[in-house]
Amino acid sequence: MDLVIYILPIATFFIGSFIGYRIYRKEERLRHRRVWMRFERRNVMRTINSLVSAIDFKDKQTRNHSDNVRHYATAIAQEMGLSQAQIGTIKEACQVHDLGKIGVHDNILTKPGKLTESEFKEMKLHSLAGAVILKPFHFLDKVVLIVRQHHERYDGLGYPDGIKGDKIDIGARIMSVADSFDAMTSKRPYREPVSKEEALAELEAFSGTQFDPKVVEVFVKLMKVNDDLFKKAGESSDVL
Ligand SMILES: [Fe+2]
Ligand SMILES: [Fe+2]
Repeated sequence: MDLVIYILPIATFFIGSFIGYRIYRKEERLRHRRVWMRFERRNVMRTINSLVSAIDFKDKQTRNHSDNVRHYATAIAQEMGLSQAQIGTIKEACQVHDLGKIGVHDNILTKPGKLTESEFKEMKLHSLAGAVILKPFHFLDKVVLIVRQHHERYDGLGYPDGIKGDKIDIGARIMSVADSFDAMTSKRPYREPVSKEEALAELEAFSGTQFDPKVVEVFVKLMKVNDDLFKKAGESSDVL
């Protein structure tokens, strides 16, 4: 009996220490994993961003397009009260949203006229192609979803999946407005840029069909009260 009185606390001490040590090791491993994932994610995003810059470099007209889309989309997401995590995902997605254009022929990307039906068909593949290129990076799954859906329309007439309304991720609905606004206010090989006011009127005209009405409402309001928000074609935003 006396022996038990001595052994019990000693055994409790060793078992407790062992369990504590195992928990500590597990937490250390998880912490290292999180640090490594962050590092890996940053490196992957830098690599992808240089690919996007290579596409932008080929086509002078769209240079800074990704930066500008991110600039507008971030302002909308913040105004709509999205979480920091959602805003971070939207920023990353904006930066790489047209990555799939790497598979589109140069003569289509820079054509100084209207695209033919077959050329437009090839151009339309870029959102799906971008998602396929990014898919192996499993930690970018939310970014992949937004890239895939950035040409979906609120009324379901977009591509590649023809999904509608709230079925389209909020990040993609925001990006769609930001993307179209920057495209309209930038010079393209086939047309001159339109003014900020004309582009906003166009967004309002397609609110509820092409675009989420809530997103258009927020963006138009933001653009009317904040003159500094407007980035003219070729102007760069802050870096990621
Ligand atoms: Fe696109
Ligand atoms: Fe775009």
